[in-house]
Amino acid sequence: MTERLADRNQHATAALEHLYRHWSANDAGLLISGNIIVDRRFKEASANIVLEDESGLPALSRMVAAGTQNNTHFWAQISHAGRQSTIFSTFKPIAPSAVKLKKLMLFAKPRAMTMEEIKDVEDRFVNTAILCKKAGFTGVQIHSAHGYLLNQFLSPITNQRTDEYGGSIENRSRLLLDIVRRVRAELGADFPVSVKLNSADFQRGGFNEEDSLIVIQKLEEQGIDLLEISGGTYENITFLTERYQRKSTQEREAYFMDFARKIRKHTNLPLMITGGFRSRAFCEEVLRKKELEMIGFARPFLNEADFPNRFLENADSRVSDAVFNFKIHQMRDFAEAGFYDYQIHQLAGGKDLKPGYNPYLAVLRMTKNELVKGWF
Ligand SMILES: Cc1cc2nc3c(=O)[nH]c(=O)nc-3n(C[C@H](O)[C@H](O)[C@H](O)COP(=O)(O)O)c2cc1C
Repeated sequence: MTERLADRNQHATAALEHLYRHWSANDAGLLISGNIIVDRRFKEASANIVLEDESGLPALSRMVAAGTQNNTHFWAQISHAGRQSTIFSTFKPIAPSAVKLKKLMLFAKPRAMTMEEIKDVEDRFVNTAILCKKAGFTGVQIHSAHGYLLNQFLSPITNQRTDEYGGSIENRSRLLLDIVRRVRAELGADFPVSVKLNSADFQRGGFNEEDSLIVIQKLEEQGIDLLEISGGTYENITFLTERYQRKSTQEREAYFMDFARKIRKHTNLPLMITGGFRSRAFCEEVLRKKELEMIGFARPFLNEADFPNRFLENADSRVSDAVFNFKIHQMRDFAEAGFYDYQIHQLAGGKDLKPGYNPYLAVLRMTKNELVKGWF
């Protein structure tokens, strides 16, 4: 989960060390960091960690040491926000094509990237991955989901290019696959490389399940170690709000399981899903049936301070979510982000979680932080 806890140089802080020490001590098997950004001009949040050169390595290494205690694996999620950079980060975002994000007024219209800029982004992902390994991370994850830049290349809505990066799914996935190939070559066969990919963007005309299956097969040919499946973009944040949308998924608990079952027949890649898992019984069932190799959790880490330790102790454990039943969907989306951002700050500051915290206040607090840390 994005932590929004870096300092003004976009370097890791003592608060981040505290946060990851807490989670590694609580028996998380594998931790994956929040977005670590490859280019400081295009952050997804004002206080993202940015890793462009070695200046941030000492602070980052301390954070990684804290997160790898207790035999915990700690992987870096590497990302570029593209058109999902807010105006607190830039008024001139870049994207495959000049297609503006429809979400309040927080995003400026992007400019279509030049060929040089595409090559630059490729180099930056590789460079950041090398630096992550130097910092001591035990693996990396290339973020190609949730509507960020690499996902923008995959989607025909945001990618209207007519060159070798647009059109067919082979072209739309070119940048992701080139990055994965080079990262693997640089980091070596034994270093875990993962990709986070949408099953679909859940938008008419967007990246869909057929596209996703083709990309997954190509990723398998390249030999990644773990595929994390998610779904949605900022325009439809399915990855956070699926449970409000479909009754069937509320009953079934986890999001994106249907897709995992479908692709199981077509790929041998180790699979993980993050999204909606809340009961031990259901997790056990999915693992027993070998539908997934790994289960990912995000909000449970912020709903219970001792997650996953206590969850793992009791066979009948169940974690409950905070529920934000606002009629206006955009408000609900912001409440989800703001409420959990607040809880991250509580944990990182060594304080108790506050499940009763007012989501409106949380949104105001998050917006103020974005503005102050972004502009001042
Ligand atoms: C506060 C917060 C920050 C998040 N930041 C990221 C992020 O940086 N990268 C990412 O891939 N997903 C991020 N997510 C999405 C989660 O990884 C996950 O897909 C989503 O919360 C669904 O899983 P859950 O039901 O277990 O919470 C974030 C979610 C929350 C609540």
